[in-house]
Amino acid sequence: MENETLTITDHRTGKSYTLPFFKGCIRTMDLRQIKVSDDDFGVMGYDPAFMNTASCQSAITFIDGDRGILRYRGYPIDQLAEKCSYLEVCYLILHGELPNADQLKAWEAEVTRHSMVQEDVKKLLEGFQKDAHPMGTLMSLVAALSTYYPDAKNIHDPACRKLQILRLLAKTPTLAAYVYRHSLGLPYVAPDHTLTYAENFMNMLWKLVADPGWKPNKVLARALDVLFILHADHEQNCSTNTMRSVGSSQADPFSSVAAAIAALSGPLHGGANEEVLKMLDEIGTVENIPGFIEQVKAGKGKLMGFGHRVYKNYDPRAKIIKQTADAVFAVTGRNPKLEIAIELEKIALSDEYFIKRKLYPNVDFYSGIIYQAMGFKPDIFTVLFAIGRMVGWLAQWEEMLNDKEQKIARPRQIYTGYGERPVPK
Ligand code: CMC
Repeated sequence: MENETLTITDHRTGKSYTLPFFKGCIRTMDLRQIKVSDDDFGVMGYDPAFMNTASCQSAITFIDGDRGILRYRGYPIDQLAEKCSYLEVCYLILHGELPNADQLKAWEAEVTRHSMVQEDVKKLLEGFQKDAHPMGTLMSLVAALSTYYPDAKNIHDPACRKLQILRLLAKTPTLAAYVYRHSLGLPYVAPDHTLTYAENFMNMLWKLVADPGWKPNKVLARALDVLFILHADHEQNCSTNTMRSVGSSQADPFSSVAAAIAALSGPLHGGANEEVLKMLDEIGTVENIPGFIEQVKAGKGKLMGFGHRVYKNYDPRAKIIKQTADAVFAVTGRNPKLEIAIELEKIALSDEYFIKRKLYPNVDFYSGIIYQAMGFKPDIFTVLFAIGRMVGWLAQWEEMLNDKEQKIARPRQIYTGYGERPVPK
């Protein structure tokens, strides 16, 4: 609308500038016309950590952090988690619409077909220590796949992009399971095309040669599927921003995903689910909670699994995870850490420090407790996050490549170093 403008007065020069609003934002490039002289560079925005800067337009995920809302392509997360499978949600995220029955069948078959990894990948795995962190190994294997599929660099060819997307969605659980089996010195289990996405993953993780009758538990497989759905996308979070940023240099998607996995591994991002378990172990008993909270308030560490850059209300994913926990514990028995987590949440949510800062449990607070009850070791929790988030990274990468306004990501800086000075010799 014509009258949707912002007028800025530069009191250095007394000049006024009228800038148009674009979808409720100001284009910071419009600030460049504000200068004190012709040879002045012009005004820039300064926004460390992108606290108030939109880096793209996106039609994939909507979050209203104040109201605790999360939607993929317009559909509320709780409805998707209740009614859809993870692969159905992947189709939605990538294509913009939910598949009909025939489309879903064809999509499941397409993804499943790509789940094998080349034999050489297993040799690569042998080079990693048994106690290597699974995120480091997964990241390296995904990066290595870029050398197995050199065609992946044809990022402007939609058919080629689709092939790489299928490969990454299908092969990541296989790689993750192989990483796990390598850490235990167990033989690898090949993908089974008759199983669902989550069941096949569980089968590759836990099937034993000695027990050929072993079958993945359907309730646990569904819980894992729901957890993958909850992690599928989350707009411009740190790893997605990394995916877009590396992808903007026109690197192939395997390299960009490896970078996104690196970003996810950090304890402030996806690595938090592992840290929550360490924290609960450290607290040990319900009696120790008040003392632990006091330490956090005194600035000695953080309450891991709490707080979020965008949610200033209960993370809607954490709510669904709590419900999923009941279904899992009915099969596995209650994880004793749940009692500590529930009490910790209760005390934190009634404490002025956390209320004032709007710190609520996030997706990572309860997910680890469920994963552990299902039989996962803490160091693989973030790998599970990566499997779920893969589709979001890929959809955001495609969206970026199709966005005519996007260019190579290259922020500006404010230089604070020395002015020119002579080398003293
Ligand atoms: N425990 C204690 N205090 C906290 C916490 C926490 N978990 N999170 C934030 N605060 C305090 C922080 O110290 C600051 O206090 P003050 O104003 O007195 O300096 C205030 O709350 C605002 O925090 P911030 O660091 O400016 O917030 P941010 O938006 O930069 O950080 C966050 C968001 C998620 C990195 C942070 O809340 C955090 O480190 N949480 C713990 C790690 C975690 O659970 N990460 C998973 C995030 S959800 C899944 C994902 O997306 O990966």
